[in-house]
Amino acid sequence: MKQIYAKILKNENLGNGFRRIGIAAPYLAKNAKPGQFVELRCSGETDPLLRRPFGVHRVTKGGIELLYEIVGRGTEIIARKKPGEILDLIGPLGTGFVLPSGKPTAILVAGGNGVAPILFLSEVLAKKKVKQHVLIGGRSKSHILCEKDFKRCGARVSVTTEDGSKGHKGLVTHILKELLADNGPKPAAIYACGPTGMLKAVANIARTHRVSCQVSLEEKMACGVGVCLGCPVKVKRGHGLCGTGYEYKMVCKDGPVFDSEEIYWE
Ligand SMILES: Cc1cc2nc3c(=O)[nH]c(=O)nc-3n(C[C@H](O)[C@H](O)[C@H](O)COP(=O)(O)OP(=O)(O)OC[C@H]3O[C@@H](n4cnc5c(N)ncnc54)[C@H](O)[C@@H]3O)c2cc1C
Ligand code: FES
Repeated sequence: MKQIYAKILKNENLGNGFRRIGIAAPYLAKNAKPGQFVELRCSGETDPLLRRPFGVHRVTKGGIELLYEIVGRGTEIIARKKPGEILDLIGPLGTGFVLPSGKPTAILVAGGNGVAPILFLSEVLAKKKVKQHVLIGGRSKSHILCEKDFKRCGARVSVTTEDGSKGHKGLVTHILKELLADNGPKPAAIYACGPTGMLKAVANIARTHRVSCQVSLEEKMACGVGVCLGCPVKVKRGHGLCGTGYEYKMVCKDGPVFDSEEIYWE
Protein backbone atom coordinates (compact mmCIF):
# COMPACT_ATOMS: atom_id res chain seq x y z
CA MET A 1 0.00 0.00 0.00
CA LYS A 2 1.30 3.48 -0.75
CA GLN A 3 0.25 7.06 -1.35
CA ILE A 4 0.02 7.85 -5.04
CA TYR A 5 -0.45 11.04 -7.02
CA ALA A 6 -2.12 9.85 -10.19
CA LYS A 7 -3.07 11.70 -13.36
CA ILE A 8 -6.76 11.50 -14.27
CA LEU A 9 -7.22 10.01 -17.74
CA LYS A 10 -11.01 10.25 -17.93
CA ASN A 11 -14.00 10.97 -15.72
CA GLU A 12 -16.99 9.84 -17.72
CA ASN A 13 -20.65 10.33 -17.00
CA LEU A 14 -22.55 7.02 -17.06
CA GLY A 15 -25.85 8.81 -16.40
CA ASN A 16 -28.18 8.91 -13.40
CA GLY A 17 -25.48 10.04 -10.98
CA PHE A 18 -22.97 7.29 -11.80
CA ARG A 19 -19.49 8.04 -13.15
CA ARG A 20 -16.33 6.15 -14.03
CA ILE A 21 -12.93 7.71 -13.42
CA GLY A 22 -9.74 6.32 -14.94
CA ILE A 23 -6.30 7.14 -13.58
CA ALA A 24 -2.70 6.38 -14.54
CA ALA A 25 -1.33 4.31 -11.66
CA PRO A 26 1.05 1.49 -12.67
CA TYR A 27 1.65 0.50 -9.02
CA LEU A 28 -2.07 -0.08 -8.45
CA ALA A 29 -2.49 -1.82 -11.81
CA LYS A 30 0.24 -4.25 -10.77
CA ASN A 31 -0.75 -4.79 -7.14
CA ALA A 32 -4.52 -4.39 -6.74
CA LYS A 33 -6.60 -7.53 -6.25
CA PRO A 34 -10.37 -7.84 -6.75
CA GLY A 35 -12.18 -6.68 -3.60
CA GLN A 36 -9.46 -4.25 -2.53
CA PHE A 37 -10.11 -0.52 -2.40
CA VAL A 38 -8.41 2.87 -2.49
CA GLU A 39 -8.93 5.92 -0.26
CA LEU A 40 -9.26 9.06 -2.29
CA ARG A 41 -8.70 12.64 -1.21
CA CYS A 42 -11.56 14.62 -2.70
CA SER A 43 -9.98 18.09 -2.62
CA GLY A 44 -6.87 19.98 -1.58
CA GLU A 45 -8.94 21.84 1.06
CA THR A 46 -9.72 20.64 4.59
CA ASP A 47 -13.39 20.05 3.67
CA PRO A 48 -14.10 17.23 3.20
CA LEU A 49 -11.30 16.26 5.54
CA LEU A 50 -11.52 12.50 5.32
CA ARG A 51 -10.55 10.45 2.33
CA ARG A 52 -13.38 8.48 0.66
CA PRO A 53 -13.13 4.72 -0.03
CA PHE A 54 -13.84 3.21 -3.47
CA GLY A 55 -13.43 -0.38 -4.63
CA VAL A 56 -11.10 -1.01 -7.55
CA HIS A 57 -13.48 -1.40 -10.47
CA ARG A 58 -11.11 -2.41 -13.22
CA VAL A 59 -7.42 -2.65 -13.95
CA THR A 60 -6.35 -1.11 -17.25
CA LYS A 61 -2.96 -0.92 -18.96
CA GLY A 62 -0.92 1.10 -16.48
CA GLY A 63 -3.83 2.22 -14.33
CA ILE A 64 -7.14 1.55 -12.65
CA GLU A 65 -10.75 2.68 -12.93
CA LEU A 66 -13.24 3.46 -10.18
CA LEU A 67 -16.99 3.48 -10.64
CA TYR A 68 -18.75 5.84 -8.26
CA GLU A 69 -22.18 7.17 -7.48
CA ILE A 70 -22.59 10.85 -6.55
CA VAL A 71 -24.17 10.75 -3.08
CA GLY A 72 -22.66 13.71 -1.21
CA ARG A 73 -20.04 16.45 -1.06
CA GLY A 74 -16.98 14.26 -1.67
CA THR A 75 -18.33 12.48 -4.72
CA GLU A 76 -19.69 15.78 -6.08
CA ILE A 77 -16.16 17.23 -5.96
CA ILE A 78 -14.68 14.11 -7.61
CA ALA A 79 -17.30 14.35 -10.37
CA ARG A 80 -16.03 17.83 -11.31
CA LYS A 81 -12.43 16.69 -11.79
CA LYS A 82 -11.03 16.87 -15.32
CA PRO A 83 -8.57 14.69 -17.26
CA GLY A 84 -5.03 15.87 -16.59
CA GLU A 85 -5.72 16.82 -12.96
CA ILE A 86 -3.91 14.90 -10.22
CA LEU A 87 -5.68 12.63 -7.71
CA ASP A 88 -4.20 11.90 -4.30
CA LEU A 89 -5.00 8.35 -3.21
CA ILE A 90 -3.80 5.54 -0.97
CA GLY A 91 -4.00 1.91 -1.92
CA PRO A 92 -4.48 -0.87 -2.53
CA LEU A 93 -6.18 -1.37 0.85
CA GLY A 94 -7.96 -4.20 2.62
CA THR A 95 -8.42 -7.84 1.80
CA GLY A 96 -9.54 -9.10 -1.55
CA PHE A 97 -11.89 -11.89 -2.59
CA VAL A 98 -10.45 -15.39 -2.22
CA LEU A 99 -10.58 -16.88 -5.70
CA PRO A 100 -11.83 -20.44 -6.22
CA SER A 101 -9.24 -23.02 -7.17
CA GLY A 102 -9.51 -24.97 -10.42
CA LYS A 103 -12.14 -23.99 -12.98
CA PRO A 104 -15.42 -24.20 -11.06
CA THR A 105 -18.54 -22.10 -11.39
CA ALA A 106 -19.26 -18.98 -9.36
CA ILE A 107 -22.27 -16.77 -8.80
CA LEU A 108 -21.56 -13.04 -8.52
CA VAL A 109 -24.27 -10.85 -6.98
CA ALA A 110 -24.13 -7.06 -7.37
CA GLY A 111 -26.63 -4.54 -6.01
CA GLY A 112 -26.54 -0.89 -7.19
CA ASN A 113 -23.00 0.54 -7.12
CA GLY A 114 -21.88 -2.85 -5.73
CA VAL A 115 -21.10 -3.75 -9.36
CA ALA A 116 -17.92 -1.66 -9.00
CA PRO A 117 -15.63 -4.28 -7.39
CA ILE A 118 -17.63 -7.21 -8.83
CA LEU A 119 -16.59 -6.30 -12.40
CA PHE A 120 -12.89 -6.47 -11.48
CA LEU A 121 -13.55 -9.88 -9.90
CA SER A 122 -15.42 -11.01 -13.03
CA GLU A 123 -12.53 -9.97 -15.27
CA VAL A 124 -10.05 -11.95 -13.15
CA LEU A 125 -12.33 -15.01 -12.97
CA ALA A 126 -12.72 -14.89 -16.75
CA LYS A 127 -8.93 -15.12 -17.12
CA LYS A 128 -9.01 -18.18 -14.84
CA LYS A 129 -11.75 -19.67 -17.05
CA VAL A 130 -14.24 -19.79 -14.18
CA LYS A 131 -17.82 -20.15 -15.41
CA GLN A 132 -19.81 -17.22 -14.03
CA HIS A 133 -23.40 -16.27 -13.54
CA VAL A 134 -23.72 -12.59 -12.63
CA LEU A 135 -26.90 -11.34 -10.96
CA ILE A 136 -27.31 -7.55 -11.10
CA GLY A 137 -30.03 -5.89 -9.06
CA GLY A 138 -31.16 -2.29 -8.87
CA ARG A 139 -34.10 -0.07 -8.05
CA SER A 140 -34.87 0.57 -11.72
CA LYS A 141 -33.38 0.30 -15.22
CA SER A 142 -31.17 3.35 -14.64
CA HIS A 143 -29.49 1.63 -11.67
CA ILE A 144 -28.37 -1.40 -13.70
CA LEU A 145 -24.73 -0.94 -14.59
CA CYS A 146 -22.03 -2.83 -16.49
CA GLU A 147 -24.29 -5.51 -18.00
CA LYS A 148 -22.32 -5.44 -21.29
CA ASP A 149 -18.98 -5.50 -19.45
CA PHE A 150 -19.96 -8.69 -17.61
CA LYS A 151 -21.12 -10.28 -20.88
CA ARG A 152 -17.74 -9.43 -22.38
CA CYS A 153 -16.24 -11.52 -19.56
CA GLY A 154 -18.25 -14.47 -20.86
CA ALA A 155 -20.64 -14.37 -17.91
CA ARG A 156 -24.29 -15.32 -18.05
CA VAL A 157 -26.09 -12.22 -16.75
CA SER A 158 -29.48 -11.94 -15.04
CA VAL A 159 -30.97 -8.56 -14.22
CA THR A 160 -33.64 -7.70 -11.65
CA THR A 161 -35.23 -4.35 -10.94
CA GLU A 162 -37.55 -3.52 -8.07
CA ASP A 163 -39.96 -1.64 -10.37
CA GLY A 164 -39.75 -4.17 -13.22
CA SER A 165 -38.40 -1.59 -15.71
CA LYS A 166 -35.69 -4.07 -16.81
CA GLY A 167 -35.21 -7.83 -16.42
CA HIS A 168 -37.14 -9.70 -13.74
CA LYS A 169 -39.28 -7.64 -11.38
CA GLY A 170 -38.24 -8.08 -7.75
CA LEU A 171 -35.08 -8.53 -5.76
CA VAL A 172 -31.84 -10.01 -6.98
CA THR A 173 -31.98 -12.49 -4.11
CA HIS A 174 -35.15 -14.07 -5.59
CA ILE A 175 -33.13 -15.19 -8.62
CA LEU A 176 -30.32 -16.46 -6.40
CA LYS A 177 -32.83 -18.54 -4.41
CA GLU A 178 -34.29 -20.03 -7.58
CA LEU A 179 -30.86 -20.83 -9.01
CA LEU A 180 -29.77 -22.68 -5.90
CA ALA A 181 -33.10 -24.48 -5.48
CA ASP A 182 -32.51 -25.97 -8.93
CA ASN A 183 -31.23 -29.53 -8.79
CA GLY A 184 -28.22 -28.74 -11.01
CA PRO A 185 -24.61 -28.64 -9.77
CA LYS A 186 -23.99 -26.13 -6.99
CA PRO A 187 -21.54 -23.26 -7.60
CA ALA A 188 -18.20 -23.40 -5.79
CA ALA A 189 -18.70 -19.90 -4.41
CA ILE A 190 -20.96 -16.89 -4.20
CA TYR A 191 -19.44 -13.39 -4.20
CA ALA A 192 -21.58 -10.38 -3.32
CA CYS A 193 -21.35 -6.61 -2.99
CA GLY A 194 -24.23 -4.22 -2.38
CA PRO A 195 -26.46 -2.86 0.37
CA THR A 196 -26.21 -4.58 3.77
CA GLY A 197 -29.80 -5.92 3.60
CA MET A 198 -29.02 -7.62 0.31
CA LEU A 199 -25.77 -9.08 1.67
CA LYS A 200 -27.57 -10.48 4.71
CA ALA A 201 -30.19 -12.14 2.48
CA VAL A 202 -27.48 -13.56 0.21
CA ALA A 203 -25.65 -14.93 3.27
CA ASN A 204 -28.84 -16.65 4.50
CA ILE A 205 -29.49 -18.26 1.12
CA ALA A 206 -25.87 -19.42 0.86
CA ARG A 207 -26.10 -20.97 4.34
CA THR A 208 -29.35 -22.78 3.50
CA HIS A 209 -27.76 -24.29 0.41
CA ARG A 210 -24.35 -24.82 2.01
CA VAL A 211 -22.47 -22.80 -0.58
CA SER A 212 -19.39 -20.82 0.44
CA CYS A 213 -20.08 -17.07 0.27
CA GLN A 214 -17.92 -13.94 0.48
CA VAL A 215 -19.42 -10.49 0.98
CA SER A 216 -17.81 -7.09 0.47
CA LEU A 217 -19.07 -4.75 3.21
CA GLU A 218 -19.41 -0.98 3.15
CA GLU A 219 -18.90 1.07 6.28
CA LYS A 220 -18.08 4.74 6.75
CA MET A 221 -14.32 5.05 7.00
CA ALA A 222 -11.69 7.45 8.21
CA CYS A 223 -8.08 6.22 8.29
CA GLY A 224 -8.68 3.18 6.05
CA VAL A 225 -5.81 1.23 7.62
CA GLY A 226 -7.17 -0.10 10.95
CA VAL A 227 -5.83 2.66 13.23
CA CYS A 228 -8.82 4.86 14.16
CA LEU A 229 -11.22 1.96 14.95
CA GLY A 230 -13.85 3.90 13.02
CA CYS A 231 -15.29 1.11 10.85
CA PRO A 232 -16.22 -1.77 13.19
CA VAL A 233 -18.30 -4.73 12.09
CA LYS A 234 -19.65 -7.37 14.44
CA VAL A 235 -18.26 -10.83 13.79
CA LYS A 236 -19.17 -14.06 15.56
CA ARG A 237 -17.16 -14.71 18.71
CA GLY A 238 -13.79 -16.29 18.08
CA HIS A 239 -13.35 -14.24 14.89
CA GLY A 240 -12.10 -10.91 16.29
CA LEU A 241 -11.66 -8.56 19.29
CA CYS A 242 -13.30 -9.49 22.63
CA GLY A 243 -17.05 -9.20 23.31
CA THR A 244 -20.08 -11.25 24.27
CA GLY A 245 -21.59 -13.38 21.53
CA TYR A 246 -19.87 -11.17 19.05
CA GLU A 247 -16.57 -9.39 18.61
CA TYR A 248 -15.42 -6.56 16.38
CA LYS A 249 -13.24 -6.44 13.33
CA MET A 250 -12.37 -3.42 11.21
CA VAL A 251 -13.90 -3.36 7.75
CA CYS A 252 -10.95 -1.43 6.29
CA LYS A 253 -8.17 -3.71 7.55
CA ASP A 254 -9.82 -7.10 8.14
CA GLY A 255 -12.20 -6.64 5.19
CA PRO A 256 -13.95 -5.24 3.28
CA VAL A 257 -14.35 -8.85 2.08
CA PHE A 258 -15.47 -11.35 4.71
CA ASP A 259 -16.69 -14.92 4.69
CA SER A 260 -20.44 -14.43 5.16
CA GLU A 261 -20.45 -17.02 7.96
CA GLU A 262 -18.07 -14.86 9.96
CA ILE A 263 -20.43 -11.86 10.16
CA TYR A 264 -22.75 -11.44 13.16
CA TRP A 265 -25.77 -10.38 11.07
CA GLU A 266 -28.41 -8.33 12.93
C1 LIG B 1 -14.62 -0.37 1.10
C2 LIG B 1 -15.58 0.54 0.42
C3 LIG B 1 -15.65 0.56 -0.96
C4 LIG B 1 -16.56 1.42 -1.60
N1 LIG B 1 -16.60 1.38 -2.96
C5 LIG B 1 -17.46 2.19 -3.60
C6 LIG B 1 -17.51 2.16 -5.02
O1 LIG B 1 -16.77 1.43 -5.68
N2 LIG B 1 -18.39 2.99 -5.64
C7 LIG B 1 -19.23 3.84 -4.92
O2 LIG B 1 -20.02 4.57 -5.53
N3 LIG B 1 -19.18 3.88 -3.57
C8 LIG B 1 -18.33 3.09 -2.90
N4 LIG B 1 -18.27 3.13 -1.53
C9 LIG B 1 -19.10 4.12 -0.82
C10 LIG B 1 -18.41 5.48 -0.92
O3 LIG B 1 -17.21 5.44 -0.17
C11 LIG B 1 -19.33 6.59 -0.35
O4 LIG B 1 -20.46 6.69 -1.18
C12 LIG B 1 -18.58 7.91 -0.34
O5 LIG B 1 -17.57 7.89 0.64
C13 LIG B 1 -19.55 9.05 -0.06
O6 LIG B 1 -18.81 10.24 0.03
P1 LIG B 1 -19.52 11.66 -0.09
O7 LIG B 1 -18.64 12.68 0.52
O8 LIG B 1 -19.96 11.89 -1.51
O9 LIG B 1 -20.83 11.47 0.72
P2 LIG B 1 -21.09 11.88 2.24
O10 LIG B 1 -21.49 13.32 2.24
O11 LIG B 1 -19.97 11.45 3.11
O12 LIG B 1 -22.34 10.97 2.55
C14 LIG B 1 -23.51 11.04 1.71
C15 LIG B 1 -24.40 9.85 2.02
O13 LIG B 1 -23.71 8.62 1.73
C16 LIG B 1 -23.64 7.79 2.90
N5 LIG B 1 -22.33 7.14 2.95
C17 LIG B 1 -21.13 7.73 3.08
N6 LIG B 1 -20.14 6.84 3.13
C18 LIG B 1 -20.73 5.63 3.01
C19 LIG B 1 -20.26 4.30 2.99
N7 LIG B 1 -18.96 4.01 3.10
N8 LIG B 1 -21.16 3.32 2.87
C20 LIG B 1 -22.45 3.57 2.75
N9 LIG B 1 -22.96 4.80 2.76
C21 LIG B 1 -22.13 5.81 2.89
C22 LIG B 1 -23.85 8.74 4.06
O14 LIG B 1 -24.46 8.08 5.17
C23 LIG B 1 -24.80 9.77 3.50
O15 LIG B 1 -26.12 9.32 3.54
C24 LIG B 1 -17.39 2.28 -0.85
C25 LIG B 1 -17.32 2.27 0.55
C26 LIG B 1 -16.44 1.41 1.16
C27 LIG B 1 -16.36 1.38 2.65
S1 FES C 1 -11.33 3.47 8.97
FE1 FES C 1 -9.96 3.64 10.62
S2 FES C 1 -10.02 1.66 11.47
FE2 FES C 1 -11.16 1.47 9.64
